[in-house]
Amino acid sequence: MAGGLKALVIDFGGQYTHLIARRCRELGVYSEIVEPEDAFKKLDEGGFGAIILSGGPRSVLQPDSPKIDLMKLLSYNIPILGICYGHQLIAKSFGGEIRAGKVREYGRTLVEVLEKDALFDGLPDRLMVWMSHGDTVIKPPRGFRATSVSEDGAITSMTNGSGICSTQFHPEVTHTQYGRKILENFLRRICGIEAWWNPGDRVEELIDEIRSKVGMDEKVICAVSGGVDSVTTATIVSRAVGDRLYCIFVDHGLMRKGEVEHVRRSLKKIGIRNLRIVYARERFLSKLKGVEDPEEKRRIIGEEFIKVFEEEAKKIPGIKWLAQGTIYPDRVESGRAGRRAALIKSHHNVGALPKRMNLKLLEPLRDFYKDEVREIARKLGIPDEIVSRHPFPGPGLAVRIIGEVTGEKLEICREANAIVEEEFRRAGVYNKVWQAFAVVCDDRWVGVMGDERVHGYIVIIRAVESVDGMTADWHRIDHELLDRIARRITREIPRVTMVAYAVTSKPPSTIEPC
Ligand code: XMP
Repeated sequence: MAGGLKALVIDFGGQYTHLIARRCRELGVYSEIVEPEDAFKKLDEGGFGAIILSGGPRSVLQPDSPKIDLMKLLSYNIPILGICYGHQLIAKSFGGEIRAGKVREYGRTLVEVLEKDALFDGLPDRLMVWMSHGDTVIKPPRGFRATSVSEDGAITSMTNGSGICSTQFHPEVTHTQYGRKILENFLRRICGIEAWWNPGDRVEELIDEIRSKVGMDEKVICAVSGGVDSVTTATIVSRAVGDRLYCIFVDHGLMRKGEVEHVRRSLKKIGIRNLRIVYARERFLSKLKGVEDPEEKRRIIGEEFIKVFEEEAKKIPGIKWLAQGTIYPDRVESGRAGRRAALIKSHHNVGALPKRMNLKLLEPLRDFYKDEVREIARKLGIPDEIVSRHPFPGPGLAVRIIGEVTGEKLEICREANAIVEEEFRRAGVYNKVWQAFAVVCDDRWVGVMGDERVHGYIVIIRAVESVDGMTADWHRIDHELLDRIARRITREIPRVTMVAYAVTSKPPSTIEPC
């Protein structure tokens, strides 16, 4: 990739690792995430000018906690910033003193800046920071000095004055005052990297790359869903190969209201002509009959999707390539799958297809975060109604229906989701949240409708704020907006007798209920 030096984020399993990488990119420095065991191989590829050691859930005092050879890391002569677990790893590796903590909780803490070194340049004397309270560094290693402390005497940051610094708190989260400035100081002042990365500038390069891979008479197939990732992928490929791109839209019957028409109109506007729509609602619903387990629902939909897609693909002779809207977090998450499979939902994609059909894979968005994909999409002239649309899961409304997917629950779910979307847009808050949607429960609530008592459905509204969907905070919704949504749902959708609002963040909950 042309441009300046990159940042390498070494992941010790922290929940904010993607946020660190995102922040570097926002500051104009391209970043990549690696597991500790792959770090040296990555560094040997060259092109890195900053190393960040992420946070992590473990204690460095546990014998089997993840490690990295810091002496070897130093030999690359690249500045290092340790965050949280990274801070403690540096302290431990170089002989500092650490006091073991019992619990690990996150919270706001006031810290006093003792020395305005390059990392804290331009900052006030006191900062409110977001920090985990677990193990504590109480004495810095020889050659290091504390640059800030908390009220209870913990060393909350330190430096050796020549390229290694660390913070116990998380500069990458918005709850840390001047967090962005701290990361900027690290990248610019300590690593000497000016802003150079801008995803929008890469559009022509992405199109050229596809053009150089796909032969003059070869055809490409792409599954589109109407979401920004798949539409942007299709648009890039179509700019490269024109009508040799064939898009397939599988309507599994679990789509949002009006989705099929929306996709047809949008792709036409963008100039993608070869679109096949496969109506497969009955096929999917009959397979889902009686199935309550969330993972089982996802598996069935995923498998059926591949079957339908494969049948359609076989009708087009001479297909050599499959274009997929994989984005960076998908790739990092699935890379971890072997080791941390329990953390990951079986995401809906056509991953098994390339091998079975002997297709080669095109993933033009594989290095980008969602916000970056949106920037690329804007640059390509993709209509805003697609660019700023909330993410929608591949298995569709099935993951917003708790328990069995029945025709009745599906219609309630579709209508309720349409009401939520419409009201959020009308109130001008649609673009301020990551997602806002409705869930249909399996339990019932007795309602009075006229003179009759009805055993009706419960609908839960969920709205969250998030940067990349990895962590999320529940949206403090305006009560008037919530009231309008709740009234419309019970008035316009028969058999709904209760509307509730979800107030749990991720973690511990996931965003979608299934
Ligand atoms: P969770 O529910 O795991 O979701 O907190 C994180 C983000 O991913 C979306 N999501 C999916 N997207 N296929 C997708 O393409 C899926 O199977 C899937 N499941 C969840 C979810 O909407 C949220 O934005």
